[in-house]
Amino acid sequence: MKLGVSYKIRRAEIEDIESIAGLLKFFSDQRLLLPKSIDDLYRQIRGFRVAVTHDSKSGEDIVIGSAHLDIFTENLAEVKSLAVNPDYHGLGVGRVLVEDCEREAVDISIKKVFALTYQVDFFKKLSYELIDIDSLPEKVFKECIRCPFYGKCNENALIKFL
Ligand SMILES: CC(C)(COP(=O)(O)OP(=O)(O)OC[C@H]1O[C@@H](n2cnc3c(N)ncnc32)[C@H](O)[C@@H]1OP(=O)(O)O)[C@@H](O)C(=O)NCCC(=O)NCCS
Repeated sequence: MKLGVSYKIRRAEIEDIESIAGLLKFFSDQRLLLPKSIDDLYRQIRGFRVAVTHDSKSGEDIVIGSAHLDIFTENLAEVKSLAVNPDYHGLGVGRVLVEDCEREAVDISIKKVFALTYQVDFFKKLSYELIDIDSLPEKVFKECIRCPFYGKCNENALIKFL
């Protein structure tokens, strides 16, 4: 872990896509996240935010975290592709990325945000509550039924009322 690292959250840009893809692949290889292709990322990039540190030598931003707010209905959105580079875990980066998604949801009058995850305690710390996935038919019928893990998914659904 890097102590005292400074980072900022900003909207993701096209040039961040390779870095986001690498970060997501790292965790999808461990089955902690669903994989995303580069094509998926091009189509979804406007819903992404990234946490970046600035490398003064190269003058470039280094992506250390990502999160995607995916809108389902007028009242429901999902935090997806939440990932923080392990070197930067425990510094509050994940929390700030989720809070940024929630802020965006509030800005567009969405009242409920959920996540499907193995990181139950992390989301509980951010005031999310465990729910039954079947109480989210929007998610189940739009996406879960197409997922290769449908029917054998062990992820937990958590929701927060904003
Ligand atoms: C889950 C993840 C995003 C957390 O990121 P992070 O930047 O390390 O988390 P933060 O430092 O913001 O943690 C916020 C709080 O949650 C706690 N926390 C973090 N990860 C936790 C975990 N796995 N279990 C329990 N508590 C956790 C922290 O201790 C902190 O508590 P505090 O406010 O009392 O100090 C990160 O571990 C990760 O990228 N995991 C792999 C990918 C993944 O599973 N993503 C979730 C998919 S929805």
